[in-house]
Amino acid sequence: MAPTLCISRWVVQFTSVLAWFLFVPVNNQLTPTLVPTCPTQCICLSQSQVVCNSASLRGVPSALSPNVMQLSLSRADLRVLRSDAFSHLRQLRRLSLDACNLTRIRPFAFRGLPRLDELYIQHTPLATVDAFAFAALQNISSIVLSHNRIAQIEGYAFAGTNFIKLISLKNNPIKRILAHAFSGLNDVTQIELPSGVKSIEPKAFFGLEGVGVLELAYMDLPALLADTFFGLTRVGRLALRESDLGVMRIGAFEGLRHVEVLEICNNKIDGVEELSLVHNNSVQTFKMTGNHMLEAPESVVLEVENLIIRGNHLPCECGRDPLANALALTPDFAEENLCISPLKVRGRSLSSAAGAVCRGEGTGSARARAAAGASPLGDTFEHSLAIIIAVIAFLANS
Ligand SMILES: *[C@@H]1O[C@H](CO)[C@@H](O)[C@H](O)[C@H]1NC(C)=O
Ligand SMILES: *[C@@H]1O[C@H](CO)[C@@H](O)[C@H](O)[C@H]1NC(C)=O
Ligand SMILES: *[C@@H]1O[C@H](CO)[C@@H](O)[C@H](O)[C@H]1NC(C)=O
Repeated sequence: MAPTLCISRWVVQFTSVLAWFLFVPVNNQLTPTLVPTCPTQCICLSQSQVVCNSASLRGVPSALSPNVMQLSLSRADLRVLRSDAFSHLRQLRRLSLDACNLTRIRPFAFRGLPRLDELYIQHTPLATVDAFAFAALQNISSIVLSHNRIAQIEGYAFAGTNFIKLISLKNNPIKRILAHAFSGLNDVTQIELPSGVKSIEPKAFFGLEGVGVLELAYMDLPALLADTFFGLTRVGRLALRESDLGVMRIGAFEGLRHVEVLEICNNKIDGVEELSLVHNNSVQTFKMTGNHMLEAPESVVLEVENLIIRGNHLPCECGRDPLANALALTPDFAEENLCISPLKVRGRSLSSAAGAVCRGEGTGSARARAAAGASPLGDTFEHSLAIIIAVIAFLANS
């Protein structure tokens, strides 16, 4: 594998160099004045396509033709990108900064690139996306920031950036999503976040207006806090999936507006203080499927057009009508959702388990036993089983 890769890389480089040697003399003979100077660390494949992949290159070369459309600085040693670093290259359409030892991007580094369509920054030591780092990029198709060491996105990192198709942050160790991280970003088709997010600050998505798909998956949250989605407006699909959501706090969806589809699927949920989607949220379809809820939700208000609540695993307590569950808002709720506890009815539909829960179980539900001071083993066991189930669901879907 490795030798083949090396050889093919060498062949590519050799061919590039060959092309350069063939190109220069011909042009020198015919129209010598038109030959652009090519910086020594670069290979100018043509006037519009330049590759500078030398580790001896420090900084963006200044002596490039203003007609360059495709520029690769991969494997250069850039370290810090200053503001307006590329403003002398207004024709740039594709810019690759992969593996360029980047540690910092100053505010407005990419300003003055009205035609930039694709920007790649991958496999660098970049650890934070500073405020305004990617500000003022218009109509760009993709900003690909995967496989870096980004742990944090500061507020307004993408401010004033409109009509983007994709922002990918996959494979970065982002643990916290800070308030206003996506403020000032409008009309983005898709934002890809990495797995392993451990906290989302209130108003993390504030000022993100017009997003096609926002998928939050493989998170490990202690709680979904109040105002998490406050100020997020016009969303095609907002999905919370395959995660440990912890406790859903009161007001988690407050201030979220105009959502076509809101999905909460295949998560482990410790408790629901409140699940409230009111008219003001203007959510068209709410879909809650395949979740494992360790406690019955306390308060549920779902003023949405289409409601799907199916395949969820909920506690079935003795003496409790399954239809008394606050989530019982769809006609087939008791048939389409399952018991997570107690053990003897686990996996049975709420309706079929209704009578069976109490029979032969003198001590009542696990929660009642724990409250009465009996061994909490039952609870712990159920808890770990739920985690195992969640992990299996996670693996099956990854
Ligand atoms: C990357 O930058 C650091 C300083 O930030 C420097 O010490 C190191 O030598 C550079 N590595 C490469 C491969 O250029
Ligand atoms: C970007 O796209 C939008 C919508 O397609 C358009 O209205 C706007 O003029 C474009 N801006 C630039 C700088 O090309
Ligand atoms: C609905 O949202 C708007 C805009 O955020 C706000 O001004 C209004 O008070 C809200 N209405 C209710 C009933 O919450």
